[in-house]
Amino acid sequence: MKPIRLALVGLGKIARDQHLPAIAATPGIELVAVASRNARLDGVDCVGTVEELLADVPDVDAVVLCTPPMPRRDQARAALAAGKHVLLEKPPGAGVSELAPLMALAEKRGRTLFAAWHSRFAPAVEPARDFLARHRARRVTILWKEDARVWHPGQDWIFEPGGLGVFDPGINAFSILTAILPEPVFVVGARLDFPANREAPIAAELKLATASGLPIHTAFDFRQSGEQIWPIAIETDAGSLVLSAGGARLNHDGQVLVDEPEREYRGVYRRFVDLVRSSSSDVDTGPLALVADAFMLGQRSFVDDFAW
Ligand SMILES: NC(=O)c1ccc[n+]([C@@H]2O[C@H](COP(=O)([O-])OP(=O)(O)OC[C@H]3O[C@@H](n4cnc5c(N)ncnc54)[C@H](OP(=O)(O)O)[C@@H]3O)[C@@H](O)[C@H]2O)c1
Repeated sequence: MKPIRLALVGLGKIARDQHLPAIAATPGIELVAVASRNARLDGVDCVGTVEELLADVPDVDAVVLCTPPMPRRDQARAALAAGKHVLLEKPPGAGVSELAPLMALAEKRGRTLFAAWHSRFAPAVEPARDFLARHRARRVTILWKEDARVWHPGQDWIFEPGGLGVFDPGINAFSILTAILPEPVFVVGARLDFPANREAPIAAELKLATASGLPIHTAFDFRQSGEQIWPIAIETDAGSLVLSAGGARLNHDGQVLVDEPEREYRGVYRRFVDLVRSSSSDVDTGPLALVADAFMLGQRSFVDDFAW
């Protein structure tokens, strides 16, 4: 079978750190082009924009969008209209309502649209989902605290409208939460801390719940110095379950169930190959809807200016 010929759009941090190695390690795909306003990559066709890519580079089957969420809707629409399959980095859009038209276009053109939630491919996620299918959760506490200056240095877009601020990492926690719980989650209330000189929150505390009354408390903070922490702790009727290291580790009552190296993006690309080969799409807007609801329901306060 011929490999799926990929073009990557936006050669920034995640494209270099994760996509390039994962593409190289995944059977059935090959990178043939890059569209970047600033960067070039040896050995593939290099152009500046999606429009140039679609006009000038023939034989591209699929476009991988590693740009920030704001320009993605137009890029995805152009690629789908040109008959390409599309992989969207997380979050799948700058807003929830822009996704339905993209899904409809993918369907109409008979192409795959994949909204990749990379954290769902972490090794602890499936075992945690299986545990929670068998044991009732009583309380969930999520702490997602990291230093924006370490993980997103100079990425001004993250604090612009549509950049999501601290929800850029926090949405990864939502993507895991919504994958492992056996029932839907909704937002009950939120407090959002905006730096006075920025357009997106730098910290957020949320109360979420499920229809059966499961209380979920989350605290996200982009100002964390020292240890960087990403635990999801779940008290259940069969003891305490803790996912940590972004889903790479799973503990049950202190006993290690999973502790594996991080390989999320290989899972992302295996799934994309399966979707393209089976002519199907996978777009779950659930985690993005939780962020949107936090913005709708959240009380807003202003905190110190933020500078890199
Ligand atoms: N950083 C992470 O750890 C991480 C992890 C998982 C997912 N993600 C997601 O991946 C996406 C990209 O994140 P990133 O960390 O790779 O960001 P980044 O380092 O800022 O790279 C984004 C790239 O997109 C291109 N771009 C096109 N239009 C742009 C615009 N209007 N503003 C800014 N850049 C634009 C730029 O590449 P060119 O100069 O090549 O055009 C830029 O280098 C985000 O949605 C993020 O949530 C990031």
